[in-house]
Amino acid sequence: MIELKHVTKIYGQGKENLCVLEDVSLRIARGKFTVLLGPSGSGKSTLLNLIAMLDAPTSGKIFIDGKDVTALRSESSRAKLRLTKMGFVFQFDGLLPEFSLLENVDMPARMLGRSSTKKAQKLLERFGLGEMVHKLPADLSGGEKQRASIARALRNQPLLLLADEPTGNLDVQRKVQVFEDFARMSREEGLTILMVTHDVHAADFADEVFTLQNKQLVKTK
Ligand SMILES: Nc1ncnc2c1ncn2[C@@H]1O[C@H](COP(=O)(O)OP(=O)(O)OP(=O)(O)O)[C@@H](O)[C@H]1O
Ligand SMILES: [Mg+2]
Repeated sequence: MIELKHVTKIYGQGKENLCVLEDVSLRIARGKFTVLLGPSGSGKSTLLNLIAMLDAPTSGKIFIDGKDVTALRSESSRAKLRLTKMGFVFQFDGLLPEFSLLENVDMPARMLGRSSTKKAQKLLERFGLGEMVHKLPADLSGGEKQRASIARALRNQPLLLLADEPTGNLDVQRKVQVFEDFARMSREEGLTILMVTHDVHAADFADEVFTLQNKQLVKTK
């Protein structure tokens, strides 16, 4: 489902450059729940951004569902692939401040002309937010915003879910619920999940664990 071949990422140019990933190769099969660990600044978000096609590698290739996405030249083809096949939970929730939770969660479907507030409502209920669908993101707690952004990421029933510290603001109980939910969705619905976290307990729920350190990925489970 995800394949990286000899991916190197260098930010900046000349003397100012910073190499974050060096010759990283990775394969994640469909339906696997994979956890990515690593110290702050090790390049976890960078790796996710490359897979999400929000940034391009300095060298190397990335394949998503068999397609070489590093060869895609137009932003519109990347955007279409993103909207139809991928869901994202960003490190900072990324909800649109001027829209209600309901509108935020329905947004990915609306962009494809498939708006259904009923489906968005159901998703919000599933994440314990059924009572606050008309609130604006600014009026929610950090954990509520995180749960809403997970709901939004699932709205278009993606093949691939990329989640960057999606549980950083959640209490232990909610955190475990999300990990269990992710494990179940990968097992029962064939959803491929790549989740960045600092929580080592997440490893217990995952099929595979990689640790990013010194510009390299090491398989630790
Ligand atoms: N756009 C950018 N331009 C230059 N350097 C960047 C850019 N984005 C990230 N970096 C640098 O690359 C390194 C990796 O950053 P990244 O955000 O991928 O780390 P991370 O593993 O996600 O960290 P955290 O756990 O704190 O979120 C850091 O040293 C960061 O300062
Ligand atoms: Mg990060």
